[in-house]
Amino acid sequence: MSSTFTMIGGEGPNSYRQHSKYQGALVEAAKEKINEAISTKLNIDLTSNNLANIADFGCSTGPNTFFAIQTILDAVENKYQQDIEFQVFFNDSSNNDFNSLFKTLPPTRKYFATGVPGSFFGRVLPRNTLHVGVSSFSIHFVSMIPKEFKNRDSPLWNKDIYCTGFSKKIEKLYLDQYKIDMEIFLNVRAQELMSSGLLLLLGGCLPNGVKMSETVNGMMTDIIGSSLSEIAKKGIIDQKRLDTFKLLVYFAQVDVLKQIIEDNGCFTIEVFEKISHANGEYPLDHEYLTLSFKATVGGSVASQFGQDAMEKTFELVKEKTQEMLPQIAKAKPGFQYLIVLRKN
Ligand SMILES: C[S@@+](CC[C@H](N)C(=O)[O-])C[C@H]1O[C@@H](n2cnc3c(N)ncnc32)[C@H](O)[C@@H]1O
Repeated sequence: MSSTFTMIGGEGPNSYRQHSKYQGALVEAAKEKINEAISTKLNIDLTSNNLANIADFGCSTGPNTFFAIQTILDAVENKYQQDIEFQVFFNDSSNNDFNSLFKTLPPTRKYFATGVPGSFFGRVLPRNTLHVGVSSFSIHFVSMIPKEFKNRDSPLWNKDIYCTGFSKKIEKLYLDQYKIDMEIFLNVRAQELMSSGLLLLLGGCLPNGVKMSETVNGMMTDIIGSSLSEIAKKGIIDQKRLDTFKLLVYFAQVDVLKQIIEDNGCFTIEVFEKISHANGEYPLDHEYLTLSFKATVGGSVASQFGQDAMEKTFELVKEKTQEMLPQIAKAKPGFQYLIVLRKN
């Protein structure tokens, strides 16, 4: 990866562990559907050694990954009704806080836990070894930022990290990169999965026709961008450095995401569903919003500009978010999905 985008680790007040209930709520809401998909679509042979391999790609730290894994494990046990040994592979980039992840493994777990650090835009497991893979809130990342976006003299320079100012050309370059990355992601997962293994994808994308800047995610990204700009004007961070700072994030529209999977051809789409649930949108609360985005974006800001600048930036983010609440209230809802893919 040219740069990284890891969540704030540990168990402290800024940590992803403490502020990822929004993401966790989706897996909870999709639990029954995951159970049903595994029950009806998983067709693997456990006769030789009773071993099932499960992996989470982009696991981060905190309860969400354990919940996703347990949901899959229960569903597999429920389906096969036999003694199965489970091996779980936790994947994330190597700067993820794997220490916290392993320290907080559920003590009553019935699986062997293994960390497989490295970019999921490459193989992290041997061929034909995986029965079920899951990736939750992790396939809206790109592996790199087109370099024109970082160059102030380029007509494609994207000021700060704003998404409101996205020109059509910037949007297209992001999408081109996203397509390349998703193609690789799907190809390598297909190599790792055993024949008929399942890949579960959960997360958020944009409804068709909706721009990132019209959603809470986009509005919060813009607020973080304008806060960084002010912090640079105050001389706390270097403007030149800010000019090159971009987020490795791209939210595709629903039909685009579906088309990318269909065009790839390695998988059959068994489920592609919108998951509607009570916690599907962020609450209209500036503290909650600030802490959620600090836990996800704050790590990148801190690694680029230092901890102190990150804290100052998010103090500003909190103020601006409070002022922006009336606009945020009018944001267009995102599209949260469960996608179940069966390897062809
Ligand atoms: C928003 S978190 C989601 C964590 C967890 N799956 C959940 O649902 O709460 C996204 C995770 O994807 C990881 N990630 C992003 N790009 C990655 C890459 N190229 N390879 C591996 N992990 C990546 C980040 O480090 C982060 O931990």
